[in-house]
Amino acid sequence: MSENPKLGFIGAGNMATALIRGILHARCTTPSQILVADIDAAKTAALASAHGVQAAANNCEVVRQCDAVVLAVKPQTMSAVLAEIAPGVRPDQCFISIAAGVTLARLEATLGPQARVIRVMPNTPSLIGAGAAGIAPGTRATDADIALARRLFEAVGIAVVLDEKHLDAVTAVSGSGPAYVFFFVESLLEAAEYAGLERAVAEALVKQTILGAARMIVETGQPPAKLREAVTSPGGTTAAALTVLREKNFTELIVQAVQAAVARSVQLGKG
Ligand SMILES: NC(=O)c1ccc[n+]([C@@H]2O[C@H](COP(=O)([O-])OP(=O)(O)OC[C@H]3O[C@@H](n4cnc5c(N)ncnc54)[C@H](OP(=O)(O)O)[C@@H]3O)[C@@H](O)[C@H]2O)c1
Repeated sequence: MSENPKLGFIGAGNMATALIRGILHARCTTPSQILVADIDAAKTAALASAHGVQAAANNCEVVRQCDAVVLAVKPQTMSAVLAEIAPGVRPDQCFISIAAGVTLARLEATLGPQARVIRVMPNTPSLIGAGAAGIAPGTRATDADIALARRLFEAVGIAVVLDEKHLDAVTAVSGSGPAYVFFFVESLLEAAEYAGLERAVAEALVKQTILGAARMIVETGQPPAKLREAVTSPGGTTAAALTVLREKNFTELIVQAVQAAVARSVQLGKG
């Protein structure tokens, strides 16, 4: 891997766009070092005009020219893309797939015995630079490949390197996690209206409460339990609410929900 690798993207959708924006903003590389292909040429043209990156004529051109290629197409499109690019794969380049449920074994088997592969599970807050990604290196990925993947995903949030066996849990916790938070917000909004607040007032209060609580977790460095205890006076309003959540087995419910997501991720990985 060269000092300033030529970086390719196959698929120029939401995630590729977010990554390119983050990478350029973090000055990880320059626009001229990024080459993008998509089945829809209008998308690559838009990226080229917005960010100065290069538009490739097709997927194989990206593989031909790049040292590292991010595979950013939907899982259902991945088989066709892998079959198309496999003949051009070289041992001196690395492939980073972000497609949910597409395993390293499948990527390595399809891209061939020389392929250096990394699998990443990002999440949607990457789109605003606040993502959380799990990075699982394949059998032939080098330290430089892993360092590159880390740099790319840290440009749009945080990234942890772990064994692929943990990616189902990462998928269930941080991949799907934003939806759990959104669902909690929907529920709190409903509760606020039931308690008599107007929708607009409820939205303003709930949004700021979620933001404030999230920032306290991140910025104070205090364990969430400690922060919770600090809001909970004995016999007070918070204690009354938490008693209901405990009686209804809130934690057990979340554990079960995450287990269901893990099981589904395992199932999807088996194709
Ligand atoms: N979005 C997220 O937050 C998120 C989170 C975790 C993982 N991921 C993973 O990231 C991957 C990309 O997601 P996304 O949200 O960025 O999807 P997306 O917006 O649909 O982007 C995929 C792009 O690939 C294009 N495409 C389709 N077939 C192609 C082909 N044969 N060759 C080249 N390009 C092709 C699509 O064009 P058309 O639209 O014309 O088909 C689209 O522009 C997915 O595998 C997903 O599982 C995404």
